[in-house]
Amino acid sequence: METIKKTTSQIGSSLSTRIATNEKLGSANLNDWILKFVFPVRDKKILDVGCGTGRQIEAFIPELGHGEIVGVDVSEECIDTARKRISDSRVRLVIGDMLNIDSLAEKNYFDIVISTYALYYSGNVAKTLQDMKQALKPDGKLVIVGPHGDNNREFFELIDFMALPPKVLDSTTTFMDETVMPFCRKHFANVKTDYFTNTVRFPTKQTLVDYWKSNIYHQDRYDHIFDERADSHFKANHEFIVHKKAMAISCSVKK
Ligand SMILES: C[S@@+](CC[C@H](N)C(=O)[O-])C[C@H]1O[C@@H](n2cnc3c(N)ncnc32)[C@H](O)[C@@H]1O
Repeated sequence: METIKKTTSQIGSSLSTRIATNEKLGSANLNDWILKFVFPVRDKKILDVGCGTGRQIEAFIPELGHGEIVGVDVSEECIDTARKRISDSRVRLVIGDMLNIDSLAEKNYFDIVISTYALYYSGNVAKTLQDMKQALKPDGKLVIVGPHGDNNREFFELIDFMALPPKVLDSTTTFMDETVMPFCRKHFANVKTDYFTNTVRFPTKQTLVDYWKSNIYHQDRYDHIFDERADSHFKANHEFIVHKKAMAISCSVKK
């Protein structure tokens, strides 16, 4: 419990570093891939659950027309950053828990509800999924994106000196298939899945160490072991390669 509390409180502070690493050192752009499941957004009402620093919301703005966006995130730091990036009267950025989505708008309000890399943080995933569905219009679209399969395997092998909290491990491997998919199949007539791989190449030990320190499961007490592992890797190799794998589930037509 202690570990999970700590990880949740650290989410905001390191998110930007992780996003920048994946984008700068990666072979493919996750955000571009995500956005194609959400567009077109013209004149749409959109809810982004666990919106973080507003990475997706920012991309919707030029195409939004008379639409509106609500972004909700539990991290004050993330919402502050998002507010600095996005100043637009059509966008409402709310500090709040995804357990309280029902307080954001009336039922059947949104045309599009998205949640990327966030749903597994919910204290009650079944409730959050149910509330997202209720917030959606009958002909609306729900898009959920998260890590999948053997995502991050090479990095997890590198840090096998520590036990990852089961919640972290599940969220990054089986969550989309075993928790999200059954809900979607039960509650929507159309369910589509897509997959994505970003090959991230760390060119130096320092870039790998920075990435380690930005992770939610980073703990200072393991820094010296990580340092030794990274050291020995870079003595034998000129780069460290990790495959970030994601799954997108797009649903429409509520049952
Ligand atoms: C990995 S980030 C993803 C952010 C954004 N969706 C993106 O793709 O860039 C996960 C986000 O979920 C937020 N989060 C965690 N627990 C939450 C909760 N209970 N309610 C709302 N947001 C939460 C975190 O603060 C963080 O911004």
